[in-house]
Formats: sequence, structure tokens, C-alpha cells
Amino acid sequence: MKTITIDRMSQHIGEKVEIKGWLYNARTGGRVLFLILRDGTGLCQAILEKTDENTRTFQDVKRLTQESSLIVRGTVHEDQRSVGGYELTSCDVQVVHRAEDYPITPKAHGIDFLMKNRHLHLRSQRQWALARVRHTVVDAIRRFFNDNGFTLVDTPIFAPAAGEGEQTLFQVDYFGEKVALAQTGQLYLEAAAMSLGKVYCFGPTFRAEKSKTRRHLTEFWMVEPEIAYIDLDGLFEVAEQFIYSVVQTVLSQRKTELEILQRDTADLEIIKPPFVRLSYTDAVDLLHSQRVKDFLQNQLAEKQTQADELDKNITDWTEQQKNAKKQWLQDELARQIAEAREQLAELREQIGNIPHHMQLAAGFCWGKDLGGSDETIISQLHTQPVFVHRYPKTVKAFYMKPDPDDSRIVLNFDCLAPQGYGEIIGGSVREDDCDALLARINHEGYDPAEYQWYLDLRRYGSVPHGGFGLGVERTVAWLTGVKHIRETIAFPRMMGKIYP
Ligand code: 4AD
Ligand code: MG
Repeated sequence: MKTITIDRMSQHIGEKVEIKGWLYNARTGGRVLFLILRDGTGLCQAILEKTDENTRTFQDVKRLTQESSLIVRGTVHEDQRSVGGYELTSCDVQVVHRAEDYPITPKAHGIDFLMKNRHLHLRSQRQWALARVRHTVVDAIRRFFNDNGFTLVDTPIFAPAAGEGEQTLFQVDYFGEKVALAQTGQLYLEAAAMSLGKVYCFGPTFRAEKSKTRRHLTEFWMVEPEIAYIDLDGLFEVAEQFIYSVVQTVLSQRKTELEILQRDTADLEIIKPPFVRLSYTDAVDLLHSQRVKDFLQNQLAEKQTQADELDKNITDWTEQQKNAKKQWLQDELARQIAEAREQLAELREQIGNIPHHMQLAAGFCWGKDLGGSDETIISQLHTQPVFVHRYPKTVKAFYMKPDPDDSRIVLNFDCLAPQGYGEIIGGSVREDDCDALLARINHEGYDPAEYQWYLDLRRYGSVPHGGFGLGVERTVAWLTGVKHIRETIAFPRMMGKIYP
């Protein structure tokens, strides 16, 4: 008998096959058991009928707990009503391991509980779908750069000097010497670009982010291309083609997963270069505009209506739950109520924040860095990604090249994903003049001795060059529509979170 995976069932209709997996869910109909099986590639229903010969197995399987591992043999049938579209009939079942009572049930659980049980949480449908989208995002990233003449260069994780500011350095002891974990591979990549022209690195990066926001992890994955002989417009073009190709790949390869995640794919289908270009100065004007005031006012009213509705639903469902006779209905209502409560808490928080965000936007001073809420507002006003470019020099990294037309600003950009997702890319043209760079290093209070090799790149055949970094977790969050990036990586690391 052939062992197959659930995703291959369509090619074995009518055949007797074997599938190895775990029990996701089960329902009994007297002399028939309907098992929902998962095997890592999908879900399928397996039907086990009670016969004179299998009474014992039938009873055993009937008592099987959620997540028990099992091998099922049966005949493949197409059935559109069945989960996944195919089912196994006339099954016999071999129990591999009977699971202890599984802590994560189909009922709703709070996010804290789920994150503590992340090692098991990963088996849920939603997390399964997220992991598969992430895999495809990573694959699409590599494919884009490999297909477009870039050479992969792996940059070090032990870094003696800061790349992105000293406040977020994680220090480690390196044989008695204090070094840091890499915040970026960029500086090394610049050296590699002078050898190979177009390069990229792709790995974990570390930042001691002391804030708990939905956008920040302390360990995240970043892909960074670096290109010799490029200007800011050239970088925009690479970045938009790159994002476009990642979006297209996810749309074509991960339809089922996006459906499970209830992502409205229409928002992704419209993504197409050229993206919006908005100078920092124009972004500041936008934040001050009547348009933003009206937009936030409307948002406040809308959210208030949503909150009232949820409030009413919770009251109704609680009443229904009291009167529900069937256990499954009580459980279902409990799940709905818990979910609604979580949404309501989130809405109330947002409602509380909007007036503050309005104030921040209206009072934004030219020269400050855009805050999380400012980015959210700008990106909510757009359906395409937005390149916000040419920020004030004072809020950006030391290596960015000043604009020759205005020395107060630098040739950099952040790419904001639309619909409120915010920054997914940060990039710039690099300072390629040795003296100017040294001045910036001194100005930041860094030790020039640590940057001699980096200055050398400006001493031997310096060329205009630049690049950018894209955060994988934020990109996956945008593409899948999840609100908090902690769900987009298997084992997230945040302040106060290191287990499991
Ligand atoms: O804007 P950042 O700090 O840029 C750099 O590190 C440059 N050296 C990149 C380059 O030019 N080669 O970070 C780039 C991206 C951000 O846009 C964001 O997507 C992600 O990395 N990122 C984070 N993601 C999750 N958690 C954090 N704490 C992040 N910090 C940055
Ligand atoms: Mg940035």
C-alpha cells in the first residue's frame, strides 16, 4: 500500500492508501467515526465504520484524544463537502501514540496562554498557514535576488561595532572582549559589494528593543541587498520590483493559507509598481492636513460603532449561552464571546489612542523621526506601498549620504506597507566620501579605530552605492493580515519573552 500525504490525495482517487498524521478533531455518528486528520500538508476526513471485526479498534479510536498520532489506511474519495475536498473511507486505524489531554482545545484561549504553549500552538491551522506563507516569502526573497544577478554573502553575527545606533545593542562577552550581536549586515555587505557588485545577506538580526509593540522583536530576520553604482531612484526601482515579486509568489502559491487566515487578497492583488513616492517634508505636511484630521475623526466614529456592536453581541451571546442545552453550542458561544472580548479590548485601546495620535500628527515638528502612529496614518491613507524619502539627517544612521541639494536631509527611504502596516523596509544611499564619513563617525561619538576598515572602502575605489533591509516578520504580517508580528515567526523573541 502506498503511503501518501494529504496534499497528494487528488492523484490517488479510488486507491487504497496510507496517511500518517495526528488527530485534529473527531465526531461520532453512532456506528461511524468521522476523524479529521492532519499530516503537515493539510487536513482530511477519515471515516471509520464499526463492523463485527473491528469493535475493539473502533472503541479505542472513539476514545482517542486530540493530537494523538495515528496511521490511517483507507480508500480515497473526492467529496467537495469534506474538509480539503477529499476523504478516506472504509478506514482502519493504527494508533501510534495516545496523547495526554491536549491543553489547546478548539475553544478560545488567550494569546498569553497560546504563546506560553507556542511549541504546541504551532500545530493549529492558523499557525500552520502562517508558517507556510513565511516559508514562501523567504523562498521568494532568495529567488528574486538569485535571479537578478545578486550574490549571497553571509555576514557575521558577532559585531565589534554598532551599525544602527548604540541604544539597541545586545552585548556579549567575546573571550573577554565586549562585542555585540549584529543589528545589520550592511556594513560588511558594503565591502562585499565593492568585490561583487550586487550582493545580499539574509539572516537573523538582534536589537535590544525595550518597547513591547506589535512591530518589534528583539530577534528578527532581515534580507539586505547592497548595490555598487546606484542612486536613490535606482533603489526605489529594485525595492518595488522586489516587493512586487514576493507578493505575486505568495498570491499564486499560498491561496489556501491566505484563505485560512481570512486575508482579503484583493488588497494584495492591486499591488503594482510604481509605488508612491512621498518626501519626508511632504509627509509632514500630510500629517498636518485637514485630510488626516477628517480621516482620524471618521475612524474614531467607525470604531465606536464597531465597539457598540461587539458589546451588544457579547450580551446576547452570554444570554444564549445560559440557555444553551447542548455542550457544543455552549463551547462555540464561549469561543465567540472570548474572541469578541479580545477584539473589544483592542478596539477600546485604539479608540483611546486615536485622540493622542491626532495630537501627535497635528503637532509633528519637521526634524523628528516619524513615530509608529505617524507611519500608521500615512500607510492607512494608501493602498500601494509608500516610499517616504529624504529624512532629516539628525534622526538617521551615520552612514547615510546627505542630499547634495539640501544638507539637512539624507538620501534614504522607508517603505511603508499600505493599510496601516507601516515600515517594512529601511534603506539609503551610503556616504561614499571618506572625510565626510569620518566626520559623521566622530559626531556620533563612535570610535574611529573600529571603523577603519569601513573607511577603507572610501579610500580604495569609492563608488556611489546603497541598499536596503526588509524585515521578514513585518512583511509576513502585512501579507497575511496578522496584527502582531509575534505570530509570524515560530519562536518569537521579545522583551520579557524567551520561553519556549
Ligand atoms: O530600518 P532598519 O533599521 O535598516 C537597517 O538595518 C539598514 N542597515 C538596512 C540596510 O540599509 N541594509 O531595518 C530594516 C528593516 C525595517 O524596515 C523592519 O522591517 C525591520 O528591518 N526591523 C524590525 N523588524 C522586527 N523587529 C524589529 N525590532 C525591527 N527593527 C527593524
Ligand atoms: Mg528603519
